[in-house]
Amino acid sequence: MGTPTTGTEIVFTGLGGTEVVTSRRNALSTPKPHGVLIRTEAAGVAFAEVQMLHGRYPGQPKAPFVPGYDLVGEIVEVGSEVTSWRVGQRVAAMPVTGAWAEYVEIRDRDLVPVPDEVDAATAVAVVLNGVTAWQLLHRAAKVRSGQTILVHGIGGGVGTLLAPLAAAAGVRVIGTASAHRHDALRDLGVELIDHRTEDVPSRVAELAPGGVDAVFDPLGPESLDASWRLLAPGGTLVAYGSAATLRDTGPWWRPYLRMVGRLARWELLRLFGSTGGRRARMYYVRSNAEFRTDLAMLLRMVASGQLRPLIARRLPLESAARALDLHVSGSQTGRIVLVPGLSAEDTET
Ligand SMILES: NC(=O)c1ccc[n+]([C@@H]2O[C@H](COP(=O)([O-])OP(=O)(O)OC[C@H]3O[C@@H](n4cnc5c(N)ncnc54)[C@H](OP(=O)(O)O)[C@@H]3O)[C@@H](O)[C@H]2O)c1
Repeated sequence: MGTPTTGTEIVFTGLGGTEVVTSRRNALSTPKPHGVLIRTEAAGVAFAEVQMLHGRYPGQPKAPFVPGYDLVGEIVEVGSEVTSWRVGQRVAAMPVTGAWAEYVEIRDRDLVPVPDEVDAATAVAVVLNGVTAWQLLHRAAKVRSGQTILVHGIGGGVGTLLAPLAAAAGVRVIGTASAHRHDALRDLGVELIDHRTEDVPSRVAELAPGGVDAVFDPLGPESLDASWRLLAPGGTLVAYGSAATLRDTGPWWRPYLRMVGRLARWELLRLFGSTGGRRARMYYVRSNAEFRTDLAMLLRMVASGQLRPLIARRLPLESAARALDLHVSGSQTGRIVLVPGLSAEDTET
């Protein structure tokens, strides 16, 4: 096969609902000196794209733009200065936007090799969500065997990976999820709370009377106070999203400012020794050296069968709007993955 000259890409032409999601053919140019052209085998669908559609993702580009946080694919062309990669290698990357395309150019230093034996959809499931889950546990909260943690939204893309990673580290997991997800989640060994019908703080206090060693909260400013009160002495609250403010009006940064304000207040109190050693942190995944180290390790865990990401569905790239609708519906547990060239929907769970 020669070097491709055009490729299909998905575009958000504006903000709003999935009516602004379109596809187009794009002319490809020769990669920049340190650029690597990748033929996408699988691209992930995440809450971040839902937020971008609503104009509520921190620092997102102005429309029109090509969304797509993460991808796995095969190198088809390399720039003149690229020495560490060759055509035919399989790689993963997290460009934040731009991955929902048949061909994507990524800087050479941002790539991570993908073992041949790992299927592309399975591999992409651990790029954004797997690294986030790992770093929340081991870099932000630094959990230890024998500890107990609370994870809000354990049925989501991050939560379904955080649960087995925590179990592998010997950590007891309490998680909140809507009841329809509980059957799919029970195998992960999680003690489940239905946040829609149960009082979460009271249930956590029953399950862990002395408090929990870490709370992972992706919901936003409204839930942080309750999360903080559930911590045992020496525990860590990690805030890492604002999912509950998706439909807010007003500037996207307002809930983040409120979150940062709360976290800063607790950190200040900690410095004065008045939090019983409890601490609060904000976490944000970045495509840096730690990301590449952690992703390579997670891909090895997937290759060896130690980690099995849940794949909800594989859909053709052109079905991006449907993928977003399915993601928002909350009916799927596990990652929805876009596969360029796939002719029919695969409903594997
Ligand atoms: N900081 C970072 O670097 C980073 C990286 C990745 C993701 N994130 C954030 O992490 C969050 C989750 O991402 P994801 O990809 O896992 O999302 P997802 O797959 O869309 O899952 C979101 C989950 O949130 C749960 N949820 C919504 N409202 C809730 C509430 N009031 N109480 C408890 N759970 C609630 C839903 O649970 P049910 O459907 O079961 O009710 C759902 O499982 C998002 O806020 C995202 O922005 C942050």
